Amino acid sequence: MGQPLDDAALDTIFRTARTYNGYTDAPVTEADVARIYDLLKMGPTSVNQQSARFVWLLSQPAKDKLAGFASGSNAEKIRKAPASVIIAYDMNFHDHLIDFFPHAPEAKNWFPTEAGRREQAFRNSSLQGAYFIIAARALGFDTGPMSGFDNAKVDEAFFADQPGVKSNFISTLGVGDPSTLHDRSPRPGFDRFNRVI
Ligand SMILES: Cc1cc2nc3c(=O)[nH]c(=O)nc-3n(C[C@H](O)[C@H](O)[C@H](O)COP(=O)(O)O)c2cc1C
Repeated sequence: MGQPLDDAALDTIFRTARTYNGYTDAPVTEADVARIYDLLKMGPTSVNQQSARFVWLLSQPAKDKLAGFASGSNAEKIRKAPASVIIAYDMNFHDHLIDFFPHAPEAKNWFPTEAGRREQAFRNSSLQGAYFIIAARALGFDTGPMSGFDNAKVDEAFFADQPGVKSNFISTLGVGDPSTLHDRSPRPGFDRFNRVI
């Protein structure tokens, strides 16, 4: 069992953490994204399927390429951010289960339909995308997740050689600049969307 986190840690990953529109000049390196990945991959996925695929965009040409498919103000945010990432999902995640769920070699046969595989891959890549956000925060970074982009064009530009891989959402990444924040939107109280039965 883990130790409960202290207030400072809870602030860092949830309570005062924000979705950032802009970042300081502090760089994001390949070593940084590897550290983020090494944390997020420990988050749980169904049959440990690890269906998310990440493309980390650290170079300006790569960020410009992604920005070309983003809508409205998202494009400029991507161009200016120290880094961006495409969180995608692999419809063929079951081909890798022998590595990640080795105690059940038959697991690759548990997902016979394309619709079922898509649902699994999308659900679990979304979870891994959330783990990415929390892992980045835990390591002192901030993120700006976005769904306002053309998925089909991103898939064509970044995953043409992997037809089973489809984009889920994208995010900027860096050390957030508080001057780019709007006021925080309200969150619902417990009574609004919860039932205890
Ligand atoms: C999956 C996802 C997609 C989002 N898409 C966009 C987007 O396309 N453009 C944008 O400006 N913000 C986008 N957001 C940002 C949300 O509006 C923001 O995270 C939310 O309002 C909470 O903000 P806060 O973390 O600062 O409280 C997205 C967030 C998530 C998690």
